[in-house]
Amino acid sequence: MEALPRIARGAGSYLYDEAGRRYLDGSGGPAAFSIGHGNAEVNAAIAAQLARVACGYRYLFTSEALEELTRLLLSLCGSEFGHVLYSGSGSEAMESALKVALQYWDARGIRTRRHFIARERSYHGNTLGALSVSGFDERRRPFEGSLLEASFVSAANAYRGLRGLAGAALTAALAEELEARILALGAERVAAFVFEPVVGAAGGAVPAPEGYARAVAAVCARHGVLLIADEVMCGAGRCGSWRALEHDGVVPDIMAVGKGLAGGYIPLAATVVAREPGDTILGAHGAFLTGHTYSGHTAACAAALAVQRIIARESLVRRVRERGAALLAELRDALARFAEVGDVRGRGYLIGVEFVRDRATREPLPAERAFGQTLGRHAFEDGLIVYPAGDTVIVAPPYNASDAELAELIERLTRATARTLAQR
Ligand SMILES: Cc1ncc(COP(=O)(O)O)c(C=O)c1O
Repeated sequence: MEALPRIARGAGSYLYDEAGRRYLDGSGGPAAFSIGHGNAEVNAAIAAQLARVACGYRYLFTSEALEELTRLLLSLCGSEFGHVLYSGSGSEAMESALKVALQYWDARGIRTRRHFIARERSYHGNTLGALSVSGFDERRRPFEGSLLEASFVSAANAYRGLRGLAGAALTAALAEELEARILALGAERVAAFVFEPVVGAAGGAVPAPEGYARAVAAVCARHGVLLIADEVMCGAGRCGSWRALEHDGVVPDIMAVGKGLAGGYIPLAATVVAREPGDTILGAHGAFLTGHTYSGHTAACAAALAVQRIIARESLVRRVRERGAALLAELRDALARFAEVGDVRGRGYLIGVEFVRDRATREPLPAERAFGQTLGRHAFEDGLIVYPAGDTVIVAPPYNASDAELAELIERLTRATARTLAQR
């Protein structure tokens, strides 16, 4: 493997390496850097917090930063939510989401609900619990045999629909499949259904078909199964609403957010729990039995608070919603001349461009061509960061990228596409 360039600094939508090369951050790395790099206001907020104290240990102290952030998050998520559990990564936030579900059933004295249902082509993290519910075969395989009990239903992908179905028929078939699985396992054994409202790296930026989230939420409600939304990548404004599921009018019981929350300035993630399951746990056990030494790290909370205040003050979620639709259309236009562009899809600033061998049959490219990786490398060499995911590349710019930067992104991606397709 080639040596990686050494990063030197970041400013807005650009990163610079030690050799002086400039990179336009077209995917925020893995859709993480929500307001770009080197933001002076965020850096000042972190420095001010560090000057006072870096971290108050969670069992001894609370802090202004943590309390303010919690208030802000609950107001952004909606009044149905009542509890926020902090952690350091999306994997930990998902691990906590699974544990909260299990603890809830235990708090109610229902010890049979221990099983999770998740979806194929999904990713929820790299800890053993989060990996157990991930339909990401390459990452799971070496650990099979020691993972939690979980079963998988079909991915909700309109481009590669179950049995070739589309639209309302696809949504109905996927909801029926979930219900049949719950009944086959026995509803009394199922703790929760886990899904990404807009799939990130495991599928290549795939929004579910319209109505899907409402349909699976109704199935879960019918059978008393908790709904866990993994919004680690698609949440915190990335898809044009603060919670991705706001778009669908669905409130999950438990939700994980990460990446864009503190925008990469300091690692921070959160598990946000609806009032009812959270109150039941606190009533029975007095505390959520999850967390780590640095949960709610004070400087990390100060970073997230500064990032979220900027997002709110500059109406960046609205910009992502409105500009995202235009960006999708512009990408479709720019890439339409390449026969191998099969699908350009997404929501807000989480957009996937999927390449295929044959646009009509949607036949995938040969795996040995490693198309996404090659395209990602060509873009990088030309000063553009995109996120390869199989034969898809994900575009996920900072929410405050300028129109000129978005135009540059499209131009460089088009150039890298032409170069990659010319190479057979
Ligand atoms: C949807 C989703 N869930 C969970 C994770 C895990 O997050 P982390 O890598 O911060 O542990 C990721 C990371 O890419 C993700 O995309």
